[in-house]
Amino acid sequence: METFSISSRLADLSIHGRRLRSSSDELERYYDLLSGGEKAIANRFATDELRERATLSRGFLREILGQHLDIPADRLEFEMGDKGKPRMKPPLIFFNLSHSADLVVVAISRTTEMGIDVEKIENHRGHEEIAREYFTTAERAYLRSLSEAERVATFYRFWTAKEAVAKSHGEDLSFALKVDITSEAPHSRTEYWNLFGVFALSVAIPGEY
Ligand SMILES: CC(C)(COP(=O)(O)OP(=O)(O)OC[C@H]1O[C@@H](n2cnc3c(N)ncnc32)[C@H](O)[C@@H]1OP(=O)(O)O)[C@@H](O)C(=O)NCCC(=O)NCCS
Repeated sequence: METFSISSRLADLSIHGRRLRSSSDELERYYDLLSGGEKAIANRFATDELRERATLSRGFLREILGQHLDIPADRLEFEMGDKGKPRMKPPLIFFNLSHSADLVVVAISRTTEMGIDVEKIENHRGHEEIAREYFTTAERAYLRSLSEAERVATFYRFWTAKEAVAKSHGEDLSFALKVDITSEAPHSRTEYWNLFGVFALSVAIPGEY
């Protein structure tokens, strides 16, 4: 798997992903797509690996948007929301991006804002600590009612869904704290995938909070 695309059942949303590794030719091609500001940001990273990740993820975003809009990828312009959510200028299409480990994913839609979050699934990380700090009482109670195996899978579904909802609103982590994935209340619509048994992926369309 180097690149992949998934259609969501939410609106006209589609998801495009790729591994964050490439040949030097491809890296150069992606670098050439970046604006001066994006190159400066990528170059500020301390290691080759981080510089390459920044270049590939922004280059991939430009490539996907360029293909869907039929506009040369290096001509696209972006602006930033108050809390750092990038969007197109002018708003020709909605998008959001997430990366984890060596994977980048981009969600796009012509009709709706959205948020996307991907996390590499790790069995040994401090799930309970994260749940204690960021999950609601109802989410923690739900997790406790599950078997150990189900708990890890559900933890990642909740975590990525909470982040995707926060990102759909262009908000930050503090917003994710008030999102209760177990609640029936009218909130954002979300969809979840387990990718290749390795990554948890959620997308969300904003609802009322
Ligand atoms: C943006 C944020 C909401 C998510 O960050 P993250 O999970 O670390 O990183 P992701 O890879 O999923 O997303 C980063 C991308 O989202 C986009 N982004 C940045 N700010 C955003 C915002 N406020 N809303 C939506 N998208 C945003 C950017 O494209 C960014 O990529 P870039 O820096 O390469 O341009 C971050 O501000 C945050 O608060 N992270 C908290 C993580 C955490 O501890 N979660 C605990 C469990 S609930």
